[in-house]
Amino acid sequence: MPENCAQLTRPLVVPSVLPVDLARIGAEVAALEAAGVDRIQWDVMDGVFVPNLSYGMPIVEAIRRLTDLPLDVHLMITDPGRYLQAFVDAGADLISFHAEAVADPAPLLDRLRAADVGSGIVINPGTPLESVTGLLDACDLLLVMSVNAGFGGQAFDPIALDKLRRAAATADRSLILEVDGGVNSETIGDCVRAGARWLVVGSAIFRRDDYAAALQSLQELARDGLTA
Ligand code: DX5
Repeated sequence: MPENCAQLTRPLVVPSVLPVDLARIGAEVAALEAAGVDRIQWDVMDGVFVPNLSYGMPIVEAIRRLTDLPLDVHLMITDPGRYLQAFVDAGADLISFHAEAVADPAPLLDRLRAADVGSGIVINPGTPLESVTGLLDACDLLLVMSVNAGFGGQAFDPIALDKLRRAAATADRSLILEVDGGVNSETIGDCVRAGARWLVVGSAIFRRDDYAAALQSLQELARDGLTA
């Protein structure tokens, strides 16, 4: 597993920059660095797999020139295999894609492993955990969506908690369990108690002026979740 994907015991808040002002993306990335984030997630949407359109490789290439922070790319696109190498070349450190978007995810996971890039499989709320349990040894990360992929600002769906608990109880300890969608001060503790260690957050950070304060508050709530 690439060292930047080392499993962490302490929960990690991963900002998802979907809501940021792209006209100020350089300043936004600098603000996140100053706030002490460990990595940044980029939500790539094609308007087909999800009813929303965001951005592609060029933004990852541009951000790669701006920061040394690990860049996680969440592919919410059809035919992700067609673009894996392009995102690896753009500088992604970890690429996660939806199990619902490919008939057989295994070859894509193998390609990411061979490229020494972190690999993640993603499941939407309506997709059973059992649909990917046979793949978990081949990837570094399982992203359990607590909203239907496509938009930030949605309400947290607690169905994700049961999947996280079952994955935490059965998967290899090296697997990173991540949750994304509606993660905020009310839900982050439950996510950690259910086994999530990477917590993707968009609105609960970017709707605040002070990213550092928002991140610190969420990190503290996440760590409290470990001991509660
Ligand atoms: C959905 C996106 C969102 C985003 C997080 O496709 O992946 O989940 O990153 O947004 P919030 O934290 O606002 O739900």
